[in-house]
Amino acid sequence: MTPSIVVQPLIDQRSMQIRARLDSIAMRDHAAWSSLLPGRFVVFDGPDGSGKSTQFRALADAARAAGVETVEVREPGGTPIGERIRDVLLDPALGEMVSRCEMLLYMASRAQLMEERVQPALARGAFVLADRFISSTLAYQGSAGGVPEDQIRAVGGIAIGGRWPDLVVIFDVDWNTAQGRMKPTLDRVERKGADYHARVRAGYLDQARQEPTRYLVVDSSQEPEVVFEQVSRGIRERLAK
Ligand code: TMP
Repeated sequence: MTPSIVVQPLIDQRSMQIRARLDSIAMRDHAAWSSLLPGRFVVFDGPDGSGKSTQFRALADAARAAGVETVEVREPGGTPIGERIRDVLLDPALGEMVSRCEMLLYMASRAQLMEERVQPALARGAFVLADRFISSTLAYQGSAGGVPEDQIRAVGGIAIGGRWPDLVVIFDVDWNTAQGRMKPTLDRVERKGADYHARVRAGYLDQARQEPTRYLVVDSSQEPEVVFEQVSRGIRERLAK
């Protein structure tokens, strides 16, 4: 028997246990979710391998269980046009893409997403939870890729029609922990290596320093349950204001 046949069920079992514990933490805050989340726009962001997807799933499911209409979007993509743009952006066969081209493609995908899905959802009082947003462009194409921040913010303002998120949660993680969590087959962005990721990480932390009321930084190298407790508390405190 090869080791992978033994290891896979153990990983599945562990992730099911984590999910069950996150669900029970989320359950405690049902009342808060139903009063705080409708009509709000929250972004989960962070370096590759930050574990944000597990947290994203848990919050989206908790919001729905609390009776809140929840619209999940992921970037790049989230619309048929955006998914095509995503394929171009992440295709390892295409080789090096200049940062300004990347930035504009991400923004094009985002413009479509905002108009087609995010703005109508917010307008009818749904909770919108986004997996990445302009904070990713500022970190990856800006801090790591060298595109000036003011240019990204200017194009970003056009792409999103002025509707900035109410809260951006940054899942902060060191390179070693992040690498351990990434899939063995890396996409074009994930192949860029440790230095690139250090600049991405620093970029996120810099954004949070600039906008401490809109950003919440969580140490995502901790156990998922601890991370979720902090995310939960942070969202309740920030959105209650
Ligand atoms: P993900 O779907 O696994 O999060 O992958 C998306 C990749 O795209 C990730 O490596 C980050 C990158 N990215 C940017 O470089 N700029 C952006 O604006 C966005 C949204 C993502």
